[in-house]
Amino acid sequence: MARAIIIDGKAQADALRGRVAAEVARLKAEHGLQPGLAVVLVGEDAASAIYVRSKGEQSLAAGMHSVTHRLPATATQGDLLAQVERLNGDPAIHGILVQLPLPAGIDSGAILAAIDPDKDVDGLTTVNAGRLASGQAGLVSCTPLGCLILLREILGDLTGKRAVVVGRSILVGRPVAQLLLGADCTVTIAHSKSRDLPAICREADILVAAVGVAQMVRGDWIKPGAAVIDVGINRVPFRDPVKAAQGKTKVVGDVAFAEACEVAGWITPVPGGVGPMTVACLLQNTVTAAKRLHGLA
Ligand code: GUN
Repeated sequence: MARAIIIDGKAQADALRGRVAAEVARLKAEHGLQPGLAVVLVGEDAASAIYVRSKGEQSLAAGMHSVTHRLPATATQGDLLAQVERLNGDPAIHGILVQLPLPAGIDSGAILAAIDPDKDVDGLTTVNAGRLASGQAGLVSCTPLGCLILLREILGDLTGKRAVVVGRSILVGRPVAQLLLGADCTVTIAHSKSRDLPAICREADILVAAVGVAQMVRGDWIKPGAAVIDVGINRVPFRDPVKAAQGKTKVVGDVAFAEACEVAGWITPVPGGVGPMTVACLLQNTVTAAKRLHGLA
């Protein structure tokens, strides 16, 4: 079996951002509508600050209105709820994202529930999960949406394909399974309690690994020629003892990449696969929300 084709998530994300920027320009020119994204960051988490900066920069680069609200780690639940309510009522804002995780002491569920579902560009409200599960138009979480865009790009029509999703999280596993079902795949959701996980995975034409365990999916779990989408982002020490002793780490996915490459037909690398698609999908969701809020979609 030839080596797998490596799916270039960065190139796909660049192309999607280009399409989003073109649509933003058209909405401005034809309707005087500038899609607006608000990102809310609470506290000083370093990784979150990097993600939030990237979201702000990329939305501006696409021609959108973009605001970032930074609240101190001492902000209360009430402060955050008031901020969300202000954004719900702001006509210049069509997309709201509250960066997770929130500091201890803040009830994330209550904050997410306060976001207007029609501005919930993260797709994390129960209303949008319900819309997705019942096949209604809603806003879908960015990472699952990115997975589907990549799969359609490489495979085209997904009808009738056997898809296995490993992981049942609210953020990825469940919504990606719903999207695959909506694309007429036959879908299995496997998880830590599934019996004979390797045998279940070997049935998959499409295998989505979203389990959060470094390199758990081995080469011999993969059906020859399958499309493998690796959503995992796991930090592990280097194998090189010198680097490991220096405390250096690297990022790996949920799939044993080198082994998988010998069997799969297509595979997303980590980093550089699904990850870059996430912010591009956030921009696309903001455009979708703006169009729906203005009766243009
Ligand atoms: N933190 C890490 N990933 C995400 C995400 O997709 N959405 C939000 N709101 N916070 C995150």
